[in-house]
Amino acid sequence: MKKVVVLWSSPNTDGLTASAKDQIAKGLIDAGTEVEEIHLNKLHLEHCRACGNGWGTCNKNGTCIIKDDFEEVYRKIKEADGIVWVSAVYWSDMTECFKAFFDRLRRCDATRNHFLAEKRCILIACAGGTGRGTLECLMQLERGLTHMGMRAYDRISVVRYNKDYVLPALYEAGKVYSDRIKNGFDMYY
Ligand SMILES: Cc1cc2nc3c(=O)[nH]c(=O)nc-3n(C[C@H](O)[C@H](O)[C@H](O)COP(=O)(O)O)c2cc1C
Repeated sequence: MKKVVVLWSSPNTDGLTASAKDQIAKGLIDAGTEVEEIHLNKLHLEHCRACGNGWGTCNKNGTCIIKDDFEEVYRKIKEADGIVWVSAVYWSDMTECFKAFFDRLRRCDATRNHFLAEKRCILIACAGGTGRGTLECLMQLERGLTHMGMRAYDRISVVRYNKDYVLPALYEAGKVYSDRIKNGFDMYY
């Protein structure tokens, strides 16, 4: 059975972001894919210390000197067949918590390990305010993914205005993603 990790970040467990990840996870599960949800806000994830004058052990051997939950999440997404990245939009960007994880991941993976290269992902940004900033958030996520050689199959913004029709679409997106992971689908860049 294929496995997808749904990485998500918002302090709210019953908000727009949680609903978005629920819908895509349900679609994946109903289509026969195993899902593991990882709620980044619940974990102990420190931010990068930029040790070693900028490049530390991340660059030398692909590991981070900080001993917290980072390594385990990294291992789980490395072993997964697909990754869904779901962030609340803060300041037109991913959450601080997401960024802390993402920064350390990028240092280890893009410069040394390349474990995540070629992974096909889905990106989701959830903005509960004006809705401004979802595209910038998705762009930031995709930029980081690109540094690591991953690819986005889709980039989806969820805002208060569209949630009544986008949340059901996320369920369908989960089913389609499950199928693409099993049967393959590619795009040439
Ligand atoms: C620090 C902060 C910055 C935010 N920035 C934005 C923003 O740029 N655009 C927007 O539409 N909403 C913004 N919001 C609202 C969040 O996107 C909203 O709270 C989000 O949906 C997270 O809540 P949820 O868990 O209910 O989804 C911000 C919220 C916070 C706390």
